[in-house]
Amino acid sequence: MKPITEFMEQDHVRLDGLFRAFQSEKSRDLEKTKQFFSEFKQCLQRHIVWEEEFLFPRFESRTGVAEGGPTAVMRLEHRRLKELLEGIHDQVAAGKTDTGEYERELTEVLMVHNTKEESILYPAIDRCVSAKEAAELIDAMKGLPPERYAHCCTGTH
Ligand SMILES: [Fe+2]
Ligand SMILES: [Fe+2]
Repeated sequence: MKPITEFMEQDHVRLDGLFRAFQSEKSRDLEKTKQFFSEFKQCLQRHIVWEEEFLFPRFESRTGVAEGGPTAVMRLEHRRLKELLEGIHDQVAAGKTDTGEYERELTEVLMVHNTKEESILYPAIDRCVSAKEAAELIDAMKGLPPERYAHCCTGTH
């Protein structure tokens, strides 16, 4: 597997695990539920910044495909994911855990979205860059400062 695809797929797996941890804690401890959700939210926010500010621009500049292309669709889906994150966040912050509707939609959107990225977009991005450029992109993503993504009322503002 090519480096960008592998790195990003691993993050999808990690995100799925964090979301499941939140869901399984929900009926137990409210404070832990808030922490678990906050961690998932911040990690998904980081993942979206990685894509929108590092990977998608590289694909768009190399292929000349921006508007109307796959990254435009992904950006749109990110917007919905962020709305759903805020929806769950506001409920959980208010001590309410009946967030099943939001969770169902988030799971559905994320599953289809991640499959498209893993099967089409990430491999296409890997084809656009050299091994050296891929390593540089991954280093730059890892170095993204927390203030760019770590916003949540139970986390860093
Ligand atoms: Fe994405
Ligand atoms: Fe992704």
